[in-house]
Amino acid sequence: MITYLLSWLRWLRWLREVTLHSPTNTGDVCFFERNTRRTAQSIIGKKIKNRVSKKFDKYVLHETLNEGGMTQIWLATDPYDQVVALRRMHAVTGGSGAPKLFKNGIKVMRKLTRHPNIVGLRDYGKVRGTPFMVLDYINGANLKQLAMRHDTVIDENVSDVIIGIADALEHLHDQGWMHLDLKPENVMVDLRGHPYLIDFDTAQAIPRRPKKFARNSGTPAYMAPEQLRGEAHDQRADIFTFGVTAFELLTHRKPFEGRSPTETRHRQLDEHYRPNPPSKFNPGVPALLNRIILQCLSHNPDQRYPNMTILNAALHRALGVQMIHA
Ligand SMILES: Nc1ncnc2c1ncn2[C@@H]1O[C@H](COP(=O)(O)OP(=O)(O)OP(=O)(O)O)[C@@H](O)[C@H]1O
Ligand SMILES: [Mg+2]
Repeated sequence: MITYLLSWLRWLRWLREVTLHSPTNTGDVCFFERNTRRTAQSIIGKKIKNRVSKKFDKYVLHETLNEGGMTQIWLATDPYDQVVALRRMHAVTGGSGAPKLFKNGIKVMRKLTRHPNIVGLRDYGKVRGTPFMVLDYINGANLKQLAMRHDTVIDENVSDVIIGIADALEHLHDQGWMHLDLKPENVMVDLRGHPYLIDFDTAQAIPRRPKKFARNSGTPAYMAPEQLRGEAHDQRADIFTFGVTAFELLTHRKPFEGRSPTETRHRQLDEHYRPNPPSKFNPGVPALLNRIILQCLSHNPDQRYPNMTILNAALHRALGVQMIHA
């Protein structure tokens, strides 16, 4: 019996060595990896529930952090035992535009310089046809998850979160890109309430003048009317989605919210519909911030702020935050 157990242990150790350290191995072999799991646990400050880790390229995947229609996000460790978030695509069905979007996200993130409110890209690659990207791990949750569990971290830090998102968008625009899918799910907030913009798959280069894009991706409830109609648009579409997101953070409802998604859509597309000021639902919103958000939500892009720099300066004034220019 003992000999049998020993040979099993030897076999397991051998399996662990070849899967963890072989540079050529890129398979999904399961094994127990206690040390790297312990490091990950101490960094995230909680126990990893999943007992089996997987090897994926040179990373060890511990547990899924989230799963969307297109991707799976894993809590992982790199060869130096650093905790990272590994985002990989689901197996793709024929004709799907998902790989193009994923590739686009990598292209945009590679070109972006680092910013404290934008998740950093560390690595990317492909394993047996599955593209993946490795991101800084953010120990927290996205704004939608926080709102759903009535977490007070948003309410306690709402000004900082709004300013952080605006700073991230300004940086993105300064570098020539628009996000086009800003929404609470695409903003992560760490345990200290610090926000990070994520998910650059739908980002596009800011055109010289409003442009029609072949791919019109985004999330309908947050989209500017011109984007929703598939018309030409530019960075001012992001300014509209910023207005919707800030409104939602302050009031826990959407500015165009109707009794059904169809009614919401009609209101978004109706040039005569005027959303209520956020202070109607949250009397704590100062008059200046009300005006800024309503201006972002203007139906006509010419009536919104022309760019994030001007909007961000107004926001900093309204929220009593000093701008520090390096
Ligand atoms: N760097 C990260 N650290 C921790 N969690 C993350 C990180 N990146 C993403 N997540 C989690 O995964 C979720 C989805 O991430 P992301 O938006 O990048 O993927 P997605 O493909 O857009 O998903 P979906 O298909 O649902 O739109 C986030 O809302 C967040 O909960
Ligand atoms: Mg997303």
